[in-house]
Formats: sequence, structure tokens, C-alpha cells
Amino acid sequence: MPPTARRPQEPAGQSSSATQAPPAGQLLSAGPFAGLDYLASAVMLLDAAQQVRYANSAAQNLLAVTGQSLRGRPFGKVVRASATLEAALANAVANGWSYTGQNVEIRRDDHDILHLNCTVTPIQCAEAPEICMLMELQPIDQQLKVSREERLIGQQQANRELIRNLAHEIKNPLGGIRGAAQLLERELNNPALKEYTQVIIAEADRLQNLMQRLLSPHRGNMQPAPVNIHDILERVRSLLLLESPEGLAIRRDYDASLPELLGDREQLIQVFLNIARNAAQALEGRGEIIFRTRAARQVTLVKRRFRLAIDVMIIDNGPGIPETFLERMFYPLVSGRPDGTGLGLTLAQSFVQQHQGVIECSSRPGHTAFLARLPTDPFEKQA
Ligand SMILES: Nc1ncnc2c1ncn2[C@@H]1O[C@H](COP(=O)(O)OP(=O)(O)O)[C@@H](O)[C@H]1O
Ligand SMILES: [Mg+2]
Repeated sequence: MPPTARRPQEPAGQSSSATQAPPAGQLLSAGPFAGLDYLASAVMLLDAAQQVRYANSAAQNLLAVTGQSLRGRPFGKVVRASATLEAALANAVANGWSYTGQNVEIRRDDHDILHLNCTVTPIQCAEAPEICMLMELQPIDQQLKVSREERLIGQQQANRELIRNLAHEIKNPLGGIRGAAQLLERELNNPALKEYTQVIIAEADRLQNLMQRLLSPHRGNMQPAPVNIHDILERVRSLLLLESPEGLAIRRDYDASLPELLGDREQLIQVFLNIARNAAQALEGRGEIIFRTRAARQVTLVKRRFRLAIDVMIIDNGPGIPETFLERMFYPLVSGRPDGTGLGLTLAQSFVQQHQGVIECSSRPGHTAFLARLPTDPFEKQA
């Protein structure tokens, strides 16, 4: 191919061997933009055909691509970008407009969805004339997650207070009602009438019991001691297998190298029993539950930073949970089952929070995953 003069608008991929401008297929690794590799923020340089000419290390990490795989690919092929972002890129090329988008959604090749703040700035650089746009990508998933967590925790605190006060209000007169029914029963000569007092007493007991369970997660603090998470999960597994039909399989995928965790054994058994029991109920006796454990390093949980946390995932291949129900199901008395109390997840959430941890859930048909993230030392000193 004869050498040709290089023009900025030249279609990429067919450029000449001009010394300062590498062909489109080759990423700039040094030259005028070498310094960008030192940035922690993700930066990319695009040409007029929207092909990625350079992506700094942060951008390659963020998009889970290597420099090689970007070779000559337009940005829209590297990731699936929203129509707004595509239009912004076209405008930057055609009109020299810059663009800033908040909470832009892009889908990576591995199908993960990223939420980003994105800025596109048209640029001109004599030393690399083919470059015409600088794109900065700032991931905000962490911010979104923290604000969602904060909102949830705020709501849960308000809920807990409401329930505690309400339960107290109901409990006290209940005692009186029950006592009066007992006194009345003793005075009754007609045994047939005792049936009615028995109903009053039994119903008062049932309500008393419910109130007790509503109040119990808030009463008393955890008794922390070093515990082995796998001991706890094995206990839950055997309890669950005992009460389940044969068609239920519980597979373990444990990271055996995990250290012990400082926690309350009884509370943690209750947490995972409640989560796994829901999974078993959703499976209606047939299906698989996976108990998985992993380490998570340097995590921020409810605004506190921990060196190490243990992720416990309980995954089932049942019908899944509708999106609209996902946040509500942690509320007390919210149940999707006719005979449910709606207290299982509330209690689990409450206990995990006492351990400074969080529970999250994601679900689609055939794959429902509950993740409980527990710091190994909930009392870790904050730097
Ligand atoms: N793994 C799961 N698959 C499907 N639905 C679930 C799952 N886990 C929880 N749920 C839904 O969340 C609801 C609330 O659970 P929970 O708080 O334990 O109360 P309960 O089990 O008494 O209904 C359940 O009734 C069910 O509808
Ligand atoms: Mg339950």
C-alpha cells in the first residue's frame, strides 16, 4: 500500500505509517498521552469513527477489557452504551460539542451493568491528530449502593421503632384481657360457656406469642465469640435436611481458608436457617440450594470500613422473587406465603446488622441469591 498523507477524518483502520500517529488497530501506549496511565480515573481517547485509540489502565479495568481486545473496535462495540451516550459521541465528532451525563448505564461484554458519570470532551492534539475525543468515565455504583443501603437502614430503624412501640401497646392490655377471661371462666357455672373464655385465652396467647417474636430481635445484645462460619452452615444444613423431603439437595461451596469470625453463634444459625428455609419453601421440596462462602477484603459496610469480611451466599434455583417484592420482603409482617409470618427476613436482617453486616438479595427465575456480608471483626477499630 503506498504511503498516504494522514488526515484527521481518515477512516480508521486504513491509516498510513505516519510516525506520530499509529494505525487505528494499534493502541497508543506512550507518546503525548502516556501520563494518563497513572490516573486512577478511567480515560479513553477516541477517533472520528468512535474507535478506541487508547484506554488507560483504569478504563481497561473498569470495562473488563484488555488493550488488545480494544484494537480497532468502536466504543459502541466494546460496551453496549445507551442511545443518549451514542448520540453524544456523534455530536462530539460532528459538532465539537462536549457532553456530561449523570448515571449513564452501560453494559459490559460480560453483561455486568455499570452506572457511570461520563464526560466527553472534543480535543485536538497536534501530535496525535486522529484523536478527537477524550472520554472520562466515573463509576458511581458504589455511591448508589451506599445511598441505597443508608436509605434502607433508615427505613428499617423507623420500622423497628414503630413495631416495638406498637407491640408494647398491644402486649400490656393483652395480659389484662387474658387474666380477666381466666377469672370469668372460674365464675362460670355453665361448662358450655367456657368454650368462649377458652377462645379468648387461646387467641390472647397467640397474639402474645407474636408480640414476643416481634420484640425479641430488639431485646438483648449479641454475645460475641469466635465462631467458624462453616460449623454454623453445617448445622443449618443438617437441620434443614431433617425437615425437608428427599428431593432437596444442599450443595456446599466453601472457602476452607476463611478465618473465624467474631459473632453470636445462635443468632447466626437463626439468620441462615431463616434464609435457607425460605429457599427450601420456594423450591417446594424439589431443587438445589447452594451454600457458598468467600472472603471479601477492604469492604465498606454501612459507612464503616473493614479489613476483611466473610460473604455467605445462599442460592436456590427456585421460581425467584418479583423485583417489586425484593425490598419489601425485609419488612416485618410482609410475607408472600399464605401461612407465613413475614418475620424470618426481618429477624435475619436485624441479627446481621447487630454484626455490622448487611444482607442483599438478587433474583431472577431459576436463580435467587441471598448474600450476607459479615465483617470478621465487627468491633474493628476504625482508622
Ligand atoms: N429464596 C426465596 N425464593 C422465593 N421467595 C422468597 C425467597 N426468600 C424469601 N422469599 C419471599 O419473601 C417472603 C418473606 O420471607 P420471610 O420474611 O422469611 O417471611 P415468611 O417466610 O414467614 O413468609 C416469603 O414469604 C417469600 O415470599
Ligand atoms: Mg421465612
